[in-house]
Amino acid sequence: MRLQPVVSGGASSTDALGDRANGIDVNAVEVRFPNGYYGLKQTSLNISAGTFCTLLGPSGSGKTTLLRAIAGLVTPSAGTISIGSREVTSLSVQARNIGFVFQNYALFPHMTVAQNIEYPLKLHKWSQVERRVRTKEILELIELPHVAERAVGELSGGQQQRVAIGRALAYRPSLLLLDEPMGALDRRLRQQLGSDLREIQQRTGITTVYVTHDQEEAFILSDKIAIMDGGEILQYDTPAELYLRPNSRFVARFLGEANIIPIDNLNHTSAGAVLAMTALGEIPLAAGSRGEVTGEPRSIVLRPEDLFFVKAETRNDDWSPTISVRIEKELFLGSRCLVTVSNQAGNTLLVECNKSEVAPCGADAWVTWKRTSAVLINR
Ligand SMILES: Nc1ncnc2c1ncn2[C@@H]1O[C@H](COP(=O)(O)OP(=O)(O)OP(=O)(O)O)[C@@H](O)[C@H]1O
Ligand SMILES: [Mg+2]
Repeated sequence: MRLQPVVSGGASSTDALGDRANGIDVNAVEVRFPNGYYGLKQTSLNISAGTFCTLLGPSGSGKTTLLRAIAGLVTPSAGTISIGSREVTSLSVQARNIGFVFQNYALFPHMTVAQNIEYPLKLHKWSQVERRVRTKEILELIELPHVAERAVGELSGGQQQRVAIGRALAYRPSLLLLDEPMGALDRRLRQQLGSDLREIQQRTGITTVYVTHDQEEAFILSDKIAIMDGGEILQYDTPAELYLRPNSRFVARFLGEANIIPIDNLNHTSAGAVLAMTALGEIPLAAGSRGEVTGEPRSIVLRPEDLFFVKAETRNDDWSPTISVRIEKELFLGSRCLVTVSNQAGNTLLVECNKSEVAPCGADAWVTWKRTSAVLINR
């Protein structure tokens, strides 16, 4: 049987920007390299149509491998991948109709901006009229009509990257995949281009999978983020949910500063309360504590900004017990301070506060937090 392309070319088949939204379903996909190494271990991910999804994780965690599997550049050893309602696991790269942007742009430096954008349309055998109309639309979308006739080699890095994004979108791909597309650019330009990319994505509504190591970039751009480590997706959720309700130590630590307090054991009192025994003492867990744990929680996660200095030992059902600490170190970061404190047994906590709230190093202090800001995790 000859497999049909997912979407055939032709400017007349869709509306002005024309990119149709397709979801992606990665179902129990495993990628095993010829040397026996697993680049992806039994990975499932369901990205709804129109989502800006970021794959975020340390180097070697499998981000590029997952992106390549979606693109058809690497063949899964198990599992299936669907784009829209069509299973594409055994389709060629071309038949998947995907727009790519890689770190090194891969533009043709001697061709003009317009010729670069038009190139994939020629490959897809669009007519001259269709190509001219579409190239103009794309130049406007990426806000570069004024440099249409310049050779791309004469453009700045940021402009070249916009051309690469425009070229990837030109033939109306069903998905846009970007692998660290801004890695080579400086921070200010990355921010500018990031917001340009997000705007282009929102205007076209194209489902986008974006790879980065940069947590801040991921938070700013994404509808949803998949946190990856060791060839697995640990958690897939909105930036806020990931930050507020990490499901593991790794996710909690990867997305910012976190106090992780191991639970030695749990005591269930006759009154129905649950007390966690920890190195910081007995910590009551509130019914509304964040985090869904199946089985017994192993640790409590507290973000430094959820901890407070208080003047004296206080008791209140909304708050955890106050912990007696000594100020060890203060890191002044301008708008806020990160303060390391330790209890008598030498266990440390990180507290975020305003400069005016910090006692001098060596001073004694009391620290507490709202019971409901504790997140329970079991791995
Ligand atoms: N062709 C290959 N053969 C064998 N192992 C590979 C191959 N390609 C990648 N790997 C390994 O698979 C793992 C995942 O690689 P991948 O390129 O997906 O990581 P990544 O998350 O994109 O990392 P980075 O942030 O450094 O780009 C790594 O340990 C890598 O060494
Ligand atoms: Mg990579």
